[in-house]
Amino acid sequence: MKVLVYDQDGKLVELNELSSQTLMEAIRDAGLNLTGQCGGCMSCGTCHVYIDHRWWTELEPASETEDAMLDVVEDRRENSRLSCQIKLTEELDGLTVTLALNSGFV
Ligand code: FES
Repeated sequence: MKVLVYDQDGKLVELNELSSQTLMEAIRDAGLNLTGQCGGCMSCGTCHVYIDHRWWTELEPASETEDAMLDVVEDRRENSRLSCQIKLTEELDGLTVTLALNSGFV
């Protein structure tokens, strides 16, 4: 499967042959600018991404805990998600996301 990621500079990066379990891990393991500081336990918000609208309805809805964390990240939008909560499955082949500015290392 592949995932398409726009980085904070608007550059499109295609991630292929992913073995990561979550979107956060796939992005981080590819060396893109995503902190993922808490490792996926929903306590940091530094894995914030924007989901391409075409893919929004394909995802499981955010849990209450994820929604609460998203409430405290900068620049939350209607298509905001924590990438550590998105499990990569074949159904998401071609998933397209944009890294939030506040997700990167400064
Ligand atoms: S990695 Fe910390 S909330 Fe996702």
